[in-house]
Amino acid sequence: MNLIRTSVFVLFALLLAACASPEPQEPPRSPAFGANGMVVSANPEATAVGLQILQEGGNAFDAAIAVKYMLSVTYPIAGNIGGGGFMVYRTAAGEVGSLDFRETAPAAAHRDMYLDEEGNLIDGLSRIGHLSAGVPGTVAGMEEAWERFGSLPFAQLIEPAIQVAENGHRVTAFNAEQSNRFQDEFAEVNRAPILFMKEGGWQEGDLLVQPELAETLRRIRDGGAAGFYTGETADLIVAEMQAGGGIITHEDLAAYRAVWRPTVSVDFGDYRIHSMPPSSSGGIAIAQLMLGSADFDFASLGHLTPETIHLMAELMRRVYADRATHLGDSDFFDVPFEMLLDPAYISARNADISMSAATPSSLIKEGEVERIESFETTHFSIVDGAGNAVSLTTTVNSFFGSKVMVQGAGFFLNNEMDDFAAAPGVPNQFGLVGGEANAIEPGKRMLSSMSPTIVERGGELFLVLGTPGGSTIITNVYQVLMNLLVHGLDLQQAVDAKKMHAQWLPDVITLEEGALDEAGQAALEALGHELRIIPQIGRMQAIQRLGDGSFKGVADYTRTGDSVARGF
Ligand code: DON
Repeated sequence: MNLIRTSVFVLFALLLAACASPEPQEPPRSPAFGANGMVVSANPEATAVGLQILQEGGNAFDAAIAVKYMLSVTYPIAGNIGGGGFMVYRTAAGEVGSLDFRETAPAAAHRDMYLDEEGNLIDGLSRIGHLSAGVPGTVAGMEEAWERFGSLPFAQLIEPAIQVAENGHRVTAFNAEQSNRFQDEFAEVNRAPILFMKEGGWQEGDLLVQPELAETLRRIRDGGAAGFYTGETADLIVAEMQAGGGIITHEDLAAYRAVWRPTVSVDFGDYRIHSMPPSSSGGIAIAQLMLGSADFDFASLGHLTPETIHLMAELMRRVYADRATHLGDSDFFDVPFEMLLDPAYISARNADISMSAATPSSLIKEGEVERIESFETTHFSIVDGAGNAVSLTTTVNSFFGSKVMVQGAGFFLNNEMDDFAAAPGVPNQFGLVGGEANAIEPGKRMLSSMSPTIVERGGELFLVLGTPGGSTIITNVYQVLMNLLVHGLDLQQAVDAKKMHAQWLPDVITLEEGALDEAGQAALEALGHELRIIPQIGRMQAIQRLGDGSFKGVADYTRTGDSVARGF
């Protein structure tokens, strides 16, 4: 059925391709500059629509909503209406806050839902298929954002995404490659062939036409969030759940709410860093890393030296041990904010760091060991000419989330349930462990690492940044901040620079290929560190406000993907 409809729409799309707005342009490979606005995202069409909305007089929030919906069409691996995310913002008047549109556990979820009778984790159950999906938050989040801060009619913001879904877009090499990787999983969990399954595979330039998604987006355009959480789309989601053994109900959908929260904010020299509070761990973890870093002379140790990497890994280990014990959805668990963000607590916690030996993670706290893999999320940063700034990270968790497409509605559901601690001390797909704080409970948000961040200098907007990368999100944002604020790199260098990562368990330092030469690696090993090298970490999208008030946009061009910054 999908395939038949697709081929019909392909014909229409060929005729209408010229109308598909907006036209992506060849991405630049160096920073973009602009005095009136800037959009940096992981996808050319998404960046283009954000710019278009700014040029039509929209503010950064309007542009963010348009970008978000365009990503759901042109970046289906992570851009989503079947997932959730977080937004940190700063208005032109200097008001700072955040919006939590993270998925929630359905009412029928319970803490042992992924365990067998012996209490062992059933492999894959929280990661793929219907049971791995949380109640999506994106549509409610975008409605909240628009109602509070939007200045253009909502239809104007979502219409470009509808047009591209309806008329089609040319898939990028990156999107084609990612769709091809998951053909077997798509076939495994979906009850009928889905649009993304393609005999012979996808190629760069293929036209992807998504008529069902266009209809779903139209229902949102016409009915707002109610056009998603109730009515036909809700019926389709619930039918999908019932057909595939999932547990999301009409009541779960109708009950979903996005939540405004104060940011976690911390001072570092002249800078004030604002990031995401729980249900993300990002803000607290970044704050702990920055507070901890203030006790050491990183500038003298140098950028990406073995000494710096050793010290960062030691700080990270302690922060991720705290994360595993103390962090979870603060609406359900009493997160000890004050203690965790107390500089005296951080200093005491880091007091046993030695520059001549690694601290085994088992001495910091005991736990299991597992490896981290690379998965997909996406971040975009936007500023407008008035000075409003939006930092937004969003995900379906793994590439294409649960791999389940809601039949008839044309979008993938997340597999965010895997971000809960399915059992105490048992690692999730990012090797992260947790306990009571992040145990599954009905209506609870699973703990995230997403860290949309905004930095002020002297009370003025200075930096907007964020990245995908699962548990490496926190450490990547931290390193870009250190590169820029301590090591004196410019923003493109700070983003391009190779990254490292450590997270308590597993007890290893992950290095991005090329981060250290052999002698440097040997120096770290001599301190007792186990190293693991991976091809790349993250995909940072950042904007800096320059001294004259104009903006510099930096996309992560060095790593695979289609990141693009454009300003005007
Ligand atoms: O919320 C989290 O922390 C994860 N679900 C994010 C997943 C992710 O970043 C995958 N991307 N590379």
